[in-house]
Amino acid sequence: MRQILGDSLPIKNLIAMIHKVAGNKTNILVIGESGTGKELVARMIHDAGPMKGKPFVPVNCGAIPETLIESEMFGHKKGSFTGAISDKVGLFEAASGGTLFLDEVGELPLSMQVKMLRSLQEKTIRRVGANEDIKVDVRIIAATNRDLEAGVKAGTFREDLYYRLNVILIKTPPLRERHGDIEILANAFLKKFAERQKKELIGLTPEVLEIFRTHAWPGNVRELENTIERAVTLETGTMISIGVLPPAVTVAFDGGARSNFTSVEITAGQNKLSSILPSVQGPGSMKEIRLPLPDFKNGPMNLDEVLAEVERQYLKHALEYTGGVKKKAADLLGMTFRSIRYRLAKLGMDTNEE
Ligand SMILES: Nc1ncnc2c1ncn2[C@@H]1O[C@H](COP(=O)(O)OP(=O)(O)OP(=O)(O)O)[C@@H](O)[C@H]1O
Ligand SMILES: [Mg+2]
Repeated sequence: MRQILGDSLPIKNLIAMIHKVAGNKTNILVIGESGTGKELVARMIHDAGPMKGKPFVPVNCGAIPETLIESEMFGHKKGSFTGAISDKVGLFEAASGGTLFLDEVGELPLSMQVKMLRSLQEKTIRRVGANEDIKVDVRIIAATNRDLEAGVKAGTFREDLYYRLNVILIKTPPLRERHGDIEILANAFLKKFAERQKKELIGLTPEVLEIFRTHAWPGNVRELENTIERAVTLETGTMISIGVLPPAVTVAFDGGARSNFTSVEITAGQNKLSSILPSVQGPGSMKEIRLPLPDFKNGPMNLDEVLAEVERQYLKHALEYTGGVKKKAADLLGMTFRSIRYRLAKLGMDTNEE
């Protein structure tokens, strides 16, 4: 069975939360970046509770054309519109007794949001073209990678529906905030794909692991999974090596192979940093940070996220140097113990006390 892998604090909290909420039928909203495991979480909640064995019906709210969505959700009666050649059961009824997973719920058209709200409140649905309501007993788990609160403010998402769905909020953490899980996930995916492709692969080289720990993983676990699948296919040796990684993953290490990026090297002698840093290793070293400069014609970026990533790398480097002793790492970085603790916690890098 699929399971949520990882032993970082955010993942432990996530799993504890899943077990806490699985036992009842309250609505749940799962938010998180693409590829962080929202659907996996929804399935785990379903499987961990009394609805196990009952239907789990996923529906991608963004993929159904607006004209069809009501009949898809609620079903229809024969002859209720052109093309309705027979009675049809909707997804709500199909999920009866189980879970309806409303994926990308932020994409629901406003007209449908009203009807959805009514169904959730009354626990009934009405098929298109029918005169009577049908009782339905389903648990709703909704998911989104968009900021629904912003949608509410902008008027594209109904506030009342938002509060109906958001009885319990679960956040799936991005992979870059739980670096410790990367190796666990990478090895699990390696095992899976090596078995599937009948290949003798025993692990990942240390350089690959180093790259994995420093990559930002914008596509999160899905990106890691795809990266490993590709690597398993291409690798001819017994360990996954750098040569079989896609350019998007190695970009920080090869000076920005991605065509829409130029990179700036932050190395001694080239800029102000040479007077700030005690010493900088030469170019090509693994312990160097090269930052891609975005091409703004491809859209906006978030400077705070980039700076957080730089901060993370420096903290990690210092902690490695001190063998994980935070007080010493704080001294090396010119900050107080309180400050390093605060920063580590904020960046999701908190380990045990030291
Ligand atoms: N913690 C985890 N352990 C193991 N596998 C995971 C984990 N998180 C995600 N995955 C796997 O990563 C892939 C993406 O997960 P999933 O489809 O649930 O993400 P999502 O948040 O729904 O993404 P999207 O927003 O793009 O739909 C799946 O194959 C899933 O099984
Ligand atoms: Mg999904």
